[in-house]
Amino acid sequence: MPEQRPVVVVGVGAARGLGAAICRRAAASGATVYAAGRTLARLEELAEDIAARGGRAVAVATDTTREEQVAALFDRVQADASSPPVLVAYNAGNAVISPFVDTETVVFEKAWKVGCLGGFLVGREAARRMLPEGGTISFTGASASLRGSAAFGAFAAAKAGLRMVAQSMARELGPKGLHVVHMLVDGGIAGERLLSRFPDLAEQKGESGMLDPDAIADALWNVHLQPRSAWTHELDLRPWSESF
Ligand SMILES: NC(=O)c1ccc[n+]([C@@H]2O[C@H](COP(=O)([O-])OP(=O)(O)OC[C@H]3O[C@@H](n4cnc5c(N)ncnc54)[C@H](OP(=O)(O)O)[C@@H]3O)[C@@H](O)[C@H]2O)c1
Repeated sequence: MPEQRPVVVVGVGAARGLGAAICRRAAASGATVYAAGRTLARLEELAEDIAARGGRAVAVATDTTREEQVAALFDRVQADASSPPVLVAYNAGNAVISPFVDTETVVFEKAWKVGCLGGFLVGREAARRMLPEGGTISFTGASASLRGSAAFGAFAAAKAGLRMVAQSMARELGPKGLHVVHMLVDGGIAGERLLSRFPDLAEQKGESGMLDPDAIADALWNVHLQPRSAWTHELDLRPWSESF
């Protein structure tokens, strides 16, 4: 039976990226997918690709650091659909790499706004609409969610903060029927972001040495489908050959 409730994915960019993969996976279930990111042309291209596969996606230009735009995104979904979202995935991220003493305040603040504040805004607006019906709200993390590293002060602070937003939401809203998931992506994603900068990386890492965005999206979808007697809160994913 096709999914009747809509799905919202915030932080959708390249077709070969995790946000787009989550959109495609959700659309394959029959759900209408709202794909949100800052670049409308890329979102529209994705919506056309999903339509060509028999699915339905709506492109909504949204800057997740802007409170009014996040609220407008969820108002739009609510106006279109007769029921609240069944899954909201917060996927926006900007891996800032900057030596500590050279990091300008504005760079640190921007990393936090995209990595953490945006997650809070999306999580709050989603929860307001999904209670008491229930559903899943997920947040994409990274290796930096758990540990800081040289030149990663801004990014790690943002991702660690996002993890605490997710954990606090899970403890408060789980008992009210919302499945809150923090998905820790511990390795390089074989997507446009990394491979456009390091075209040889996939070959260097060897077969399946990078995370396939479609495989991550499948893992998230399976967690979303879990019965509530056995919910995963934190999911950590890495390639088989990654040391940790
Ligand atoms: N790439 C990796 O190797 C890797 C590794 C571990 C974890 N992660 C995490 O995985 C997630 C997805 O990474 P990805 O590399 O596959 O990227 P992606 O899903 O292809 O794209 C995420 C998109 O979020 C959008 N975005 C950025 N700032 C935004 C904002 N303020 N408002 C709305 N959208 C915004 C960007 O598109 P626009 O610029 O068009 O808005 C970006 O392309 C991120 O949270 C990242 O931190 C990535």
